[in-house]
Amino acid sequence: MAKRKFSGLEVTLIIFVCLVTIIACVFIGLFASGQSGIKTKEFTAQCPSVLVAERIDCIPDQIATKNLCTLRGCCWSPQSDPSVPWCYFPSNYGYKVDGSTRSTEAGFENTLTRLSSPSLFGKDIETVLLTAEYQTSNRFHFKITDPNNQRFEVPHEHVKPFTGSKASNLNYKVEVKSDPFGIVVSRASNNRVLFDTTIGPLQYSDQFLQLSIRVPSTNIYGVGEHVHKQYRHDVNWKTWPMFSRDIGPSEAMHNLYGVQTFFLCLEDSSGASFGVFLMNSNAMEFVVQPAPAVTYRTIGGILDFYIFLGNTPEEVVQEYLQFVGLPCFPSYWNLGFQLSRWNYGSLDEVKSVVERNRAIGLPYDAQVTDIDYMEEKKDFTYDKEKFQDLPNFAAYMHAYGQKYIIILDPAISTQSLVDGSPYGSYVRGESKKVWVTEADRETTLIGEVWPGEAVFPDFSNPDCESWWVEECKLFHDAVPYDGIWIDMNEVSNFVQGSSKGCLANDLNYPPFTPNILDKLMYSKTICMDAVHKWGQHYDVHSLYGHSMSMATRKAIETVFPGKRSFLISRSTFVGSGNYTAHWLGDNAATWEHLRWAIPGMLEFNLFGFPYIGADICGFSDNTTEELCRRWMQVGAFYPFSRNHNAEGFMSQDPAAFGNNSLLVNSSKHYLNIRYTLLPYLYTLFYKAHTRGDTVVRPLLHEFYSDENTWGIDRQFLWGPGLLISPVLDPGVDTIQAYIPDAVWYDYDTGAKISARKQWTDMFLPGDKMGLHLRGGYVYPIQQPAQTTNASRLNPMGLIIAMDDSNTASGDLFWDDGESTGTVEREAYTYYEFTVSSNTLQITAKTIGYSDPNNLKFDEIKILGVQQRITAVAVTQNNVEENHPVNIIYDSVQKVAHITGLQLELGKSYTVQWTQ
Ligand code: GLC
Repeated sequence: MAKRKFSGLEVTLIIFVCLVTIIACVFIGLFASGQSGIKTKEFTAQCPSVLVAERIDCIPDQIATKNLCTLRGCCWSPQSDPSVPWCYFPSNYGYKVDGSTRSTEAGFENTLTRLSSPSLFGKDIETVLLTAEYQTSNRFHFKITDPNNQRFEVPHEHVKPFTGSKASNLNYKVEVKSDPFGIVVSRASNNRVLFDTTIGPLQYSDQFLQLSIRVPSTNIYGVGEHVHKQYRHDVNWKTWPMFSRDIGPSEAMHNLYGVQTFFLCLEDSSGASFGVFLMNSNAMEFVVQPAPAVTYRTIGGILDFYIFLGNTPEEVVQEYLQFVGLPCFPSYWNLGFQLSRWNYGSLDEVKSVVERNRAIGLPYDAQVTDIDYMEEKKDFTYDKEKFQDLPNFAAYMHAYGQKYIIILDPAISTQSLVDGSPYGSYVRGESKKVWVTEADRETTLIGEVWPGEAVFPDFSNPDCESWWVEECKLFHDAVPYDGIWIDMNEVSNFVQGSSKGCLANDLNYPPFTPNILDKLMYSKTICMDAVHKWGQHYDVHSLYGHSMSMATRKAIETVFPGKRSFLISRSTFVGSGNYTAHWLGDNAATWEHLRWAIPGMLEFNLFGFPYIGADICGFSDNTTEELCRRWMQVGAFYPFSRNHNAEGFMSQDPAAFGNNSLLVNSSKHYLNIRYTLLPYLYTLFYKAHTRGDTVVRPLLHEFYSDENTWGIDRQFLWGPGLLISPVLDPGVDTIQAYIPDAVWYDYDTGAKISARKQWTDMFLPGDKMGLHLRGGYVYPIQQPAQTTNASRLNPMGLIIAMDDSNTASGDLFWDDGESTGTVEREAYTYYEFTVSSNTLQITAKTIGYSDPNNLKFDEIKILGVQQRITAVAVTQNNVEENHPVNIIYDSVQKVAHITGLQLELGKSYTVQWTQ
């Protein structure tokens, strides 16, 4: 193509346009930085030398330039490493304490005034109020608010304003630094500084609030929801955005479905740990840097921090969860295996999948149907052709002792049904005005989700909650179901903001947007100025899943009075675990997704969602036999164990791989072990529910004195005792596994392994995974069956794994497995087991439930018995009873197996053996 020359007039015009543009840019630049250019004239940054690792970024919003750095009054020092902030805060930035500290009933107060530094994003709040409360001996709370304007605060039903007075015997000390302001919390016993905000300045403007915290160790765990890829944080300058978002886990460091602001820090090998929790639901970022330090950077609400001290990591999690809401108690059947896929296509196909998996004898408790059961993807309807027989499906499942779970999405279609009749759920909701509105608080916001044009229920509106409860009930009357899976509640919207787009304002386009996916607040969701009862979408966006979980829990209470049923939610917030469980979302059938699921589960145990798992065999993409086999193995130990598949990909239910295949046999083997150990798992859930214990437990929670465990995330524990070491890579039959400092027994053979406190090569051919029982524990078991309904009728037993001194202990919680309030009503039986000097004490501590199935402990397996057992004596209330038993001793594996014991559940016994 020939080149054309510009005329003289054109050149002049171009020069003129360029000049105007440059002037406009300079002007906008000055304006956008909140007149900071003007203020810098009076401000001189003090830039003493600071370790690079300790710099707090002054330009988190864009590529740093020297000019902008100067405008912001910050310190400029470029580095070869681009991840290090080149522009960082000077020492004279932030706020200072104004006047003296005022004592209050629970602690103290300080007024803080802003130092005369430039503004980063405008609308700085010149005077703020620090309120500090010594809430308990281990819990310190402080918040920073605007004394002149009520700002948004999370309307949390558990975390409420503190009404008590200052606790005594504080395990921490608090010091306030005055100029610039900083708050320093240290551990009283050893003066270790745990939480020190003097590393960076407080920022408190209308839409940009920030606090940085120096922490004493790099052992930082938690904050979500993300794919961190590893359980222990990488402290090398990572920024993790938080804002609930409909997007599947991936390599990228983006925000995922839920928001969890809690992290735990292990201080040292004594186990001493603390946790930090920020009560804030606005879009934010969490930065981790090598100082070590973290920064919370949020764009609304208030700064509302809680610090929890513990002697062990487990204690910190317990305190946190007791504070924000303990996890709900899953029904016993929830602990069984589930099958699911998106788009089976028809109920006939669902049934054929159910049948083929029943036929191979797979332990399998529940079948799920996804949005394809609905008529045109509308909630509370079903496809009258392809799922014609759906009203009878639950009965069909129940006849085999299995359950039926449905999916529900929040978005409600505005369109009528296929036959032209009105869509009742929409019509009833519309008449009660239960939808999220546009900024005018009148017009219903319209978006688009699976069913096409749709509106969004405002679950924070009590009328909406009762409408939802009623819809769940009406649908249950038509199509009985046993549990509910809620999805798309980030809240997801397939058009940006609304069908009309979003207005140009500070909510939809805040001066600082955290590094969230697409860098657009309303991407794949609704406009930020949309209105809910709880507030503007800008503030409550990440609470949507939480509110839907609460409403759906209410629905469950109505539809299944007195039953726990089943509930999982994709989006969660702090404390949602009190109502719902969670799964890790739309993963892919790849080996890295298989690996990432373990850190994900460990994190959600910190957040209070012990009933957690990832889609087994991978959601999107075609799985492979090897990947799916390895995934079924480890998935048998996901607390929430569900094989789920996206539409259009090859079938991946175990039976699809052929009867007697390696995959089927290995899946059955490990699911049978799962079902055998359910009494142990259920007891762990009881402790999670009543005390806040983790169920899937990181090795470091049990073996914190051993530094090797601090970063382990390819293995995990069930409670204190069962070590799970899966194969997570293709083509591998030997893994490097860590064996923590204890006696361990191979689950299959019962033999003691020789490795201890070391890395070891574990040989795990195609049908095997590593499974080891920790010595010193007693594991309650029950003979497995194809469903938990059936297994609950089977004989019970105990596996006793001896420790170095031939002792062991354990416990068992047993109730009807489905009623609500069994703990509160003491409608359960609780046992303690102790073993020493060849004597097992079986002590029923609480006998509040008598099982209708006449259950008995039939067998006891003792691992690590050095000599043949020749006789067994059983006494009850000091009276010897005649229990004709059979004893088998394996002198090679050192395992004794006593059967025929017939010890009645609910009674206490002493079992003594002679060698
Ligand atoms: C979402 C869910 C997925 C489900 C699909 C269809 O992507 O995360 O599990 O299968 O929607 O409902």
